[in-house]
Amino acid sequence: MRTDHQAEPAVGAPGRAATAVAHPNIALIKYWGKRDERLMIPYVDSLSMTLDVLPTTTTVRLDPTARTDSVTLDGSPAEGEVRRRVTDFLELLRERSGCFEPAVVDTRNSVPTGAGLASSASGFAALAMAGAAAYGLDLDRTGLSRLARRGSASASRSLFDGFAICHAGRGAGATADIGSYAEPVPAPDFDPALVVALVDEGAKAVSSRAAMRRTVETSPLYRAWAASSRADLAEMRTALLRGDLDAVGEIAERNALGMHATMLAARPAVRYLSPATVAVLDSVLRLRSDGVPAYATMDAGPNVKVLCHRADAARVAEAVRGAAPGCSVVTARRGPGARLQTGAGW
Ligand code: ADP
Ligand code: DP6
Ligand code: CO
Repeated sequence: MRTDHQAEPAVGAPGRAATAVAHPNIALIKYWGKRDERLMIPYVDSLSMTLDVLPTTTTVRLDPTARTDSVTLDGSPAEGEVRRRVTDFLELLRERSGCFEPAVVDTRNSVPTGAGLASSASGFAALAMAGAAAYGLDLDRTGLSRLARRGSASASRSLFDGFAICHAGRGAGATADIGSYAEPVPAPDFDPALVVALVDEGAKAVSSRAAMRRTVETSPLYRAWAASSRADLAEMRTALLRGDLDAVGEIAERNALGMHATMLAARPAVRYLSPATVAVLDSVLRLRSDGVPAYATMDAGPNVKVLCHRADAARVAEAVRGAAPGCSVVTARRGPGARLQTGAGW
């Protein structure tokens, strides 16, 4: 650890401060349920598409003069659970690096936070990358993916561009930790659009974490969905290799609806889907019956993402807007993995 910190520039010095940008990813095969909550080990493998829109930018700066960590999200001090998840993650970085200085974290989401649009994925991928650099951890992308998983399991996938699989891993303890990380999935000729319908940008009442815990503990449908998800994943990989939008879309849609079925059967039920969600789902069915290939997926929130050919994206966006008046629509493509922002000193 350096002791001459005061002689250093506040931002941009390698090993003391870093800024990273990460994009959200949307799972086509969902992760839902943890078999180890401390190590954040999923029950099932998942497969996602990283987006080229709605990034998170996070700066981590070590501050040896501070007594505690300081965390701001979108310019306001983070409190409660949001702050705790970040400071727990910083604690992990300190244990790993042997550098015990507090940090100043400034993170900005362009994706709505906690709305089922994967803010925890872009948020913890950016924090893992910036935090590892600031604390001087020398990790390759697999190591960064494992690290990001400890913040939010979906974040492991935002380290990679395009399509990525997160392995649930096997065994327990260190074996499980080593085996659970994301890596790219080949999809050489597949470059679809994902039309994101923002029907409600408000934060969910029940976090993904709490909802999946309740589902695993109480839903009689959970195990059946987990088993079918394994089969879905194998089919999805070959569909991606073929660049077959209809197959990818059909598998993704049934996998997502099945996940929501597990939540609806939890006790008490978790229901993220709203009337506007259902209206958008109906518009997707109408598009298909009109001959436009379009397939929906939803995460832990009411917002809908519609997979389609890029050439059909404008028509799909129009149909979605008509179904849920007032909703905003963002059209995404496959986007980049998390990266350190280059700038002075980098
Ligand atoms: P989402 O659907 O947005 O991923 P989750 O319930 O999975 O919703 O996670 C939302 C939580 O993720 C927030 O309450 C906060 O704790 C954390 N989070 C979101 N964005 C960030 C960020 N940029 N930096 C750190 N933590 C974040
Ligand atoms: C429905 O990764 O947000 O979006 O690991 O507790 O942070 P934590 O949960 P999170 O769960 C994501 C659930 C999902 C499906 C997915 O992204 O695979
Ligand atoms: Co999340």
